Amino acid sequence: MSDCCECGCDTAKKEDLISMFPEKKESLVKYIESLDLGKDVDKNRGFLIQTLHKAQEIFTYLPEVVQLFVAAKLGLHVSEVYGVISFYSYFTDKPVGEFKINVCTGTACFVKGAGKILAELERFIGIKEGETSKDMKYSLGGLRCVGACSLAPVVMVNDKVYGNVTTKMVADIIADCK
Ligand code: FES
Repeated sequence: MSDCCECGCDTAKKEDLISMFPEKKESLVKYIESLDLGKDVDKNRGFLIQTLHKAQEIFTYLPEVVQLFVAAKLGLHVSEVYGVISFYSYFTDKPVGEFKINVCTGTACFVKGAGKILAELERFIGIKEGETSKDMKYSLGGLRCVGACSLAPVVMVNDKVYGNVTTKMVADIIADCK
């Protein structure tokens, strides 16, 4: 399998960046090597989404350097990789914090004061919705209805759900992020 992608970029140089995290790189390489890849690009393409899932699990997001690396390993053009990342909202090419804090902005939560909760989180953490803190600890965002309307307003921190949230609970929610 070739280590070069088809886009003519300086892949070797970009791989040096990914090498800044050798254990992460090794983990991704191990995963890719476990796949049944070959010279058939169409077949390799079938492994793209699962490889991106794994890459995001390892690196927490998919910056250009990771996209180039995956493209090279699967023998695909990086634009194809980027196309998949931008199509699925699950994937992100922006850095995300260790704790992804999302305020539900569905109707029930909105009516019960989700806006105030979001504003208090913004004030408390010192970042705006859609941003990640400089120490990469927190990302703050909004979600559509998470199916827990009876608990509105709802805040999710990674997979943990907080219900009936008040502005006074914000400090405790952040304190739970350890
Ligand atoms: S609207 Fe927030 S959980 Fe349904």
